[in-house]
Amino acid sequence: MRSLFNSLVALCTLICLSACDRDDPRQGDIYLPEGDAVKGEMYFASLGCVNCHVVIGAELPEPAEAGPVRVLLGSQTRRKLSYGALVTSIVNPSHRLSARYRKDEVSDGGESLMPSYNDVLTVTQLTDLVAFLDAHYETAVRPDYEYRAYPRREPLRNQSDDDSANANPQ
Ligand code: HEC
Repeated sequence: MRSLFNSLVALCTLICLSACDRDDPRQGDIYLPEGDAVKGEMYFASLGCVNCHVVIGAELPEPAEAGPVRVLLGSQTRRKLSYGALVTSIVNPSHRLSARYRKDEVSDGGESLMPSYNDVLTVTQLTDLVAFLDAHYETAVRPDYEYRAYPRREPLRNQSDDDSANANPQ
């Protein structure tokens, strides 16, 4: 009996903790050291990201050479990318292709048209790029942990208006 009680307490604590952390949409994501968004913007241009991307709300230089695609970035594209998703899409572009485009527009044989920068980018440049891009995204709301309040059941029998009479008639 006592162990059942302990398990219940542990369960309630867990539920409470997950509910309390609900406000932190980055919970469960990875955390890189803080980046420098201003430098990130600079790298976005110098590394050629501008060849294939427009970041809505950012003033970026014209691309030196136009890439094969023009993929829009930023929340105003109505696609919200979490911090973790931004990191993933840079270090592993083919992990999940941007859902707003036809596969044949943005990939070739399942591989993203975005080149790998993993042997070129330093981790500092990555954190700076993500800091720059993240500032242009409203943070994604995690889809789980959406609780809906159950509608209040009307009493089966119409009792008096007396408040004390709200015992469940079932
Ligand atoms: C040759 C073109 C090209 C270049 C250069 C390029 N990208 Fe991409 N990028 C793409 C394509 C195509 C996609 C969409 C397919 C995908 O999700 O991989 C994409 C997707 C992304 C996404 C995810 C967008 C979404 O809505 O899911 C991010 C973030 C991104 N790129 C950042 C960068 C950064 C940062 C750089 C420079 C370091 C860069 N890209 C350089 C072509 C490019």
